[in-house]
Amino acid sequence: TIPTRTLNDGATQPAIGFGTYLLNGSAGVGDMVSAIKVGYRLLDSAFNYENEGAVGEAIRQSGIPRAELRVTSKLPGRHQHFKEAIATVEESLYRAQLDYYDQYLIHWPNPSKGLYVEAWTALIEAQKKGLIRSIGVCNFLPEHLEKIIAETGVTPAVNQVELHPYFPQAEQRAFDKAHGILTQSWSPLGRASHMLQDPVLKTVATRVGKTIAQVILRWHVQLGAVPLPKATAAPRQTENLSVFDFELSPQDMEQIATLARPDGRTFGQDPATYEEF
Ligand code: A2P
Repeated sequence: TIPTRTLNDGATQPAIGFGTYLLNGSAGVGDMVSAIKVGYRLLDSAFNYENEGAVGEAIRQSGIPRAELRVTSKLPGRHQHFKEAIATVEESLYRAQLDYYDQYLIHWPNPSKGLYVEAWTALIEAQKKGLIRSIGVCNFLPEHLEKIIAETGVTPAVNQVELHPYFPQAEQRAFDKAHGILTQSWSPLGRASHMLQDPVLKTVATRVGKTIAQVILRWHVQLGAVPLPKATAAPRQTENLSVFDFELSPQDMEQIATLARPDGRTFGQDPATYEEF
């Protein structure tokens, strides 16, 4: 069974979720139905992934009651104005044919636009209207979090950031934790970085008798972050979910910590400058 995390607004979610980036169309629906059937209960999507409809369809096909699932989507950079943001949340719900999202997050701060505080007030309003259970952000640096908290008095429940052994984000995690914000990890397996062939991780995996993917996901769990791995085949989906029956020792954790790179971002998207469409 998957442990539960409690958010700062009292809502709960599983300690691991399923990432759906690049899962689209009927093949994507099939992969998501499979993920739900093998036990995932948190599905992470985004308006910009253009797969909210597929997520909704997968939920209905899975036969699992809506209330047992947690569904996330995200507000794109081009819709951060207040009215557009509210309309976008409604559009996301319409695409998925859902009555509410469990989590709706600002996808990127886009600081050069100067609109993320306005977007945040829109999510606060959408939450009041009952469209969203929990509100949060992605890719927010401490300065962005400080600003929205100071200007609205509302602390996000979640901050979803790029996080994996090459980019362990110690300061960001400490900041989130100090503010009661749950850190979620995107690209938890370091997609596109060959992390799944890393010799140091291989050593740890051999020692604990698990796969490299399982070692990485367990590392996230022990840091207190919620990984959102994506996998298309059921065996891998199950493998990635099976990280609650073993523990990494402090020595294992220290060895993995040596893998941190000065800038370990897999796509070089720096939230301070990245402009999301
Ligand atoms: P696939 O989608 O073909 O199953 P991330 O979640 O960090 O973005 O990484 C996702 C990538 O890692 C995908 O290419 C996925 O392949 C691959 N992947 C996911 N789980 C595993 C696993 N257990 N073993 C090997 N590769 C995996």
